[in-house]
Amino acid sequence: MTNFPVDMTVKPEVTAFFDDATNTISYVVKDPNSTSCAIIDSVMDIDYFAGRITYDHADKMIAFVRDNGLTLEWQIETHVHADHLSAAPYIQDALGGKIGIGDKIMVVQETFGKIFNEGTEFQRDGSQFDALFKDGDTYNIGGMKAFAIYTPGHTPACMVHVIGDAAFVGDTLFMPDGGSARADFPGGDAATLYDSIQRVLTLPDDMRLFMCHDYGPNGRDIQWETTVGDEREHNIHVGKGATKEEFVKFRTERDATLAVPKLIIPSLQVNMRAGEMPRDKDGNMVLKVPVNGL
Ligand SMILES: [Fe+2]
Repeated sequence: MTNFPVDMTVKPEVTAFFDDATNTISYVVKDPNSTSCAIIDSVMDIDYFAGRITYDHADKMIAFVRDNGLTLEWQIETHVHADHLSAAPYIQDALGGKIGIGDKIMVVQETFGKIFNEGTEFQRDGSQFDALFKDGDTYNIGGMKAFAIYTPGHTPACMVHVIGDAAFVGDTLFMPDGGSARADFPGGDAATLYDSIQRVLTLPDDMRLFMCHDYGPNGRDIQWETTVGDEREHNIHVGKGATKEEFVKFRTERDATLAVPKLIIPSLQVNMRAGEMPRDKDGNMVLKVPVNGL
């Protein structure tokens, strides 16, 4: 089925933090046999129209880590998000640990470095991050072995992270009744996303899957956890053996109807810098708005 080193006997303790401003779910993932933990996809609060950032969501996660006496070893970004801003550097200042993302971040930095007309001081080599993962790379969280799987399609740098019996899918999949994420951002591709999803669906049936987003389709309550078997059977976009042709046609038509994410302009500028705000020559935090650039 899969040639990845899955160890379903390791069952990390997963605590979810839902951000209702952006419908993002951030996670603390704890090794059951030590105090080590990782944070997946943190969120910085922004009032974009007021030009103001705050850290209520990140502070809740920091308090949780401290209150439980945990040691933060890793912060993982599943991809360069276009709908919320990462709080990774703020959390790193408070708790330490390394920040990691897929090594295809360089492709994303090249693309958006051009769109935002960044100068030469903006490095396009991923050096803003502490670690760049390639497909199949492993790392440790205490006694737990984690590994990263390339899952491009939504963006070029998307990765799914598998930790014991749990996988953090980013925007590769939504809950079964939510289907899949859009594939029309620069560097996105519906056929590539289909192939990536098929890879994820080769993981063991009872592996727990944790979403990065949920929008409560059809009025149901927000959910973020399912299984590989449930997605394979019931996902409305790729379940029950939907073909690549069917998926690409559906995804392309749907994406053409979707509005641009409200926070795409600040999100990309911050997240391609590993969560650091861009600064002007005097060191002030500033964001650009390229007109008709996206
Ligand atoms: Fe995303």
